[in-house]
Amino acid sequence: MTVSEVRKRYLDFFAKRRHAIIPSAPIVPENDPTTLFTSSGMQPLVPYLMGAEHPEGTRLADSQMSFRAEDIEEVGDNRHTTFFEMLGNWSLGDYFKEKQLPWIFEFLTNKEEGLGLDPHKLYVTVFGGDEESGMAKDEESVAIWQKLFSQKNIDAKFVELGTEERGNEVGMQGGRIFSYGAKKNWWSRAGVPTKMPAGEIGGPDSEVFYDFGLPHDPKFGRECHPNCDCGRFIEIGNSVFMQFIKNSDGTFSELPKRNVDFGGGLERLTAATCDDADIFNIGIFAEAKSEIARLSGVSYSDIGGPQGNPSGIVVVGKEKKVGMPAEKMQFFYRVIMDHIRAATFLIAAGKLPGKSEQGYVIRRLLRRAVRFANNLLIPPGNLSRIADVFINEYQDVYSHLSQQREFIINAIKKEEADFRGVLSREGPKLDIQIQEAVFNGGVLSPDIVFLFVTSHGYPLEMVEEEARERGVRIDKDAVAALLEEHQARSRAGAAQKFAGGLADQSEQTVRYHTAHHLLLKALQQALGPEVHQRGSNITAERLRIDFNYGAKMTDEQKAAVEKIVNEKIAEGLPVIRTVMNKADAEKLNAEHEFGANYPEQVSVYSIGPKDATQDDPKFAEAFSIEFCGGPHVANTSTLSHFKISKEEASSAGIRRIKAILE
Ligand code: ALA
Repeated sequence: MTVSEVRKRYLDFFAKRRHAIIPSAPIVPENDPTTLFTSSGMQPLVPYLMGAEHPEGTRLADSQMSFRAEDIEEVGDNRHTTFFEMLGNWSLGDYFKEKQLPWIFEFLTNKEEGLGLDPHKLYVTVFGGDEESGMAKDEESVAIWQKLFSQKNIDAKFVELGTEERGNEVGMQGGRIFSYGAKKNWWSRAGVPTKMPAGEIGGPDSEVFYDFGLPHDPKFGRECHPNCDCGRFIEIGNSVFMQFIKNSDGTFSELPKRNVDFGGGLERLTAATCDDADIFNIGIFAEAKSEIARLSGVSYSDIGGPQGNPSGIVVVGKEKKVGMPAEKMQFFYRVIMDHIRAATFLIAAGKLPGKSEQGYVIRRLLRRAVRFANNLLIPPGNLSRIADVFINEYQDVYSHLSQQREFIINAIKKEEADFRGVLSREGPKLDIQIQEAVFNGGVLSPDIVFLFVTSHGYPLEMVEEEARERGVRIDKDAVAALLEEHQARSRAGAAQKFAGGLADQSEQTVRYHTAHHLLLKALQQALGPEVHQRGSNITAERLRIDFNYGAKMTDEQKAAVEKIVNEKIAEGLPVIRTVMNKADAEKLNAEHEFGANYPEQVSVYSIGPKDATQDDPKFAEAFSIEFCGGPHVANTSTLSHFKISKEEASSAGIRRIKAILE
């Protein structure tokens, strides 16, 4: 099947089971200061998993655009990507294990309605308990899975493994259902129960693995088991029984309602339908591969075989080599395809390559892609052609890509050209440094590496490879320490946020969030109604807004904006959340979040007038009305004094304001 077919079948399957199909949230979340990217389907739904009422009801399903920057280095094997779509279904206090596991099994195995996978190739895992946090093992799921497999005439033996290490020692033992501890079968955004911060939610989970039937690679351990990393088994779905919240004293409480959070990688599920362990062989990559083949003269599929590719010429460092091993060639292809596809989606979310936060990640993706394109001898200036191919591939489902085709293509062209400029300007200097290191102990100074990585935007591994070719080492730990210190200092935040996604709903960020609404309206009053938000970021220390405006703001304009916001704070206006039809909210002229798609039922926040109430929000007299998921303070009087701390250019035609509450 293709990704489109799998996506459609999944959404139809759950729609038939009374799930509301909700649109993908933006891949770059708005107003969540703790995370740069949406990295799972549940992330935008956290408030609802914690108990807030969702406007679409208690059963939801979607396909969420997701990005995991922490996987950049993993890309290149047959199954890791940074960008992926996560198919998800949720029960918000509605059904639980008894329905979730049978539905997922039905979806995976049913030929008419689902994917028609052979149940003999499916293996499942369940939570085996965790002594440290006192969490009990999940015996219910074992019983449910045994029944499901027996309906397919499969005698599903249950094997307790506990850890990966134990799995690699004792192997499968004829099992079908395996239990592991918290490291493998507990899910929260922070990992195992003991790592979860106070206020974070999580629960035991049950994963499904597809057996691609490859021989076990003993490099990964003596014996194979579902969680072995050799590549024989690939995880294709995870049902999380989202049941607990961590208390500030380290104990856990049950959430008011028991939820289900299912996530399944669309690309991996599609690969399972093709029974091909290489997810880069699914249809969505086919055109990109042809394009790379045209540009490079070496193709992805003919390079197989143990002798490597006899005709393919590739470049390593400054040398042309003939006959690279197939894995190496496929590695180059995969990194280029993954990185360009991911950058395409991130740029479409309004972010550009740059020095910090999302921009830094996009830059890193594109520069790594340039480097691997060089390995394949792809002529300069062509990476955007691969992006163009992906924009076409996704135009039916993600039309926001094709709507911004030029913007995306230009951004990629520019970054490629910039980086090639850096390479030709700084490359010879790096050569000299490496040459000097040859005569000075064979180690390139960490300060030099740091300089090339931070000031010139070289990917670290590129410096490393160039050095290695001349027998020069770099001290990775020392470089990592410098980079860490730099990040902490500049508070660029990118690196420390990679693992994040913990919605910070501290009191201070909530206050800034409400101040942000006041500020946007004040800007429209002071600068003109055509001003809209183009980006935003809120931390516990300040708020930041990007908005379209063609000129630097004057001191008078800034003072006028501050005055309006402070007046609205002083007036003590109520802040009211109303759930309504999208069409009704549009009629009210509610301000949209940039880049967001909205479901049929939306949540809207209005501020003022003074006598507005939940029952009678008096929208006609409200100061501000925005489409927004919240949270907000109840009354503007809790905000204290508002002050603009900085006004600057963000990019062409876009200004940026940072502001604080004193
Ligand atoms: N939230 C779960 C995951 O990301 C489903 O794996």
